[in-house]
Amino acid sequence: MSLSTRIEESAAYIQSKLGGLLPTVGLILGSGLGAYADDLEDTVQIPYAEVPGFLVTTAPGHRGQLVAGRRAGVGVLAMQGRSHFYEGYGQGEITLPVRVMKKLGIDTIIITNAAGGVNEVFTEGALMLISDHINFSGSNPLIGPNLEDFGTRFPAMTKVYDATLRRRVLDMTRDEGIQLHEGVYMMFSGPGYETPAEIRFARTIGADAVGMSTVPEVIVAAHAEMRVLGISCITNMAAGMRDEHLSHSEVEDVAKRTHLTFVRVLDLALAAIKEESR
Ligand code: HPA
Repeated sequence: MSLSTRIEESAAYIQSKLGGLLPTVGLILGSGLGAYADDLEDTVQIPYAEVPGFLVTTAPGHRGQLVAGRRAGVGVLAMQGRSHFYEGYGQGEITLPVRVMKKLGIDTIIITNAAGGVNEVFTEGALMLISDHINFSGSNPLIGPNLEDFGTRFPAMTKVYDATLRRRVLDMTRDEGIQLHEGVYMMFSGPGYETPAEIRFARTIGADAVGMSTVPEVIVAAHAEMRVLGISCITNMAAGMRDEHLSHSEVEDVAKRTHLTFVRVLDLALAAIKEESR
């Protein structure tokens, strides 16, 4: 079955489960950050396993369900967990949900992740708005036939992370005394963490944080001309920066500890989106 048909089928299935709900914002919740979806109102849960064409996530800490609901007066379709390139899927596969969101009428997507801090001023638990990215994953989700329904063959990647929305969220968080950094996210394929030499390279070429996700989804969203907000939770300083052993359980623990601030930042982002659409 073609990718386009699978996208159609997934979208039709999800639509049939939504009832009267009309989500306008998509939300991808990364490692340890899935709890935000538990706080949505009027929710409908749809396990990925039920959705035709959806991949089932294998990464620990990723619950593997869609949660549709409302928050701050905005209709949201949240993904509790995502698939990763390192699980062995192609990037066209792991980004299918983004295109399904677009089919469902969603035009803004908030993409979150747990990431390693490369910028020396960051500390564990810091939050960073993504201003740009470096695709060092070794692949690209748009490789293969172009899906003309979604976008053009050679989409620009110059202004992917919406500057206006970013500015609004930065202003709103500053007013509440929440510190939010801004920086460049660099994707490595994983699943092994980076070496100290790779982290020195990442810093040299302009990365502020590193991780194993987000970039494929952002590229597909940009191809479909969706508005993107990217948020990294810095769960650890990257390899070689501290004398510590990196582990996924630590990544999840730190992400969970940022919960309250993370929730507030997402709420403010939704408020900013709602304001703009007035
Ligand atoms: N590297 C890559 N991915 C990550 C890290 C890291 O240090 N921390 C959380 N996700």
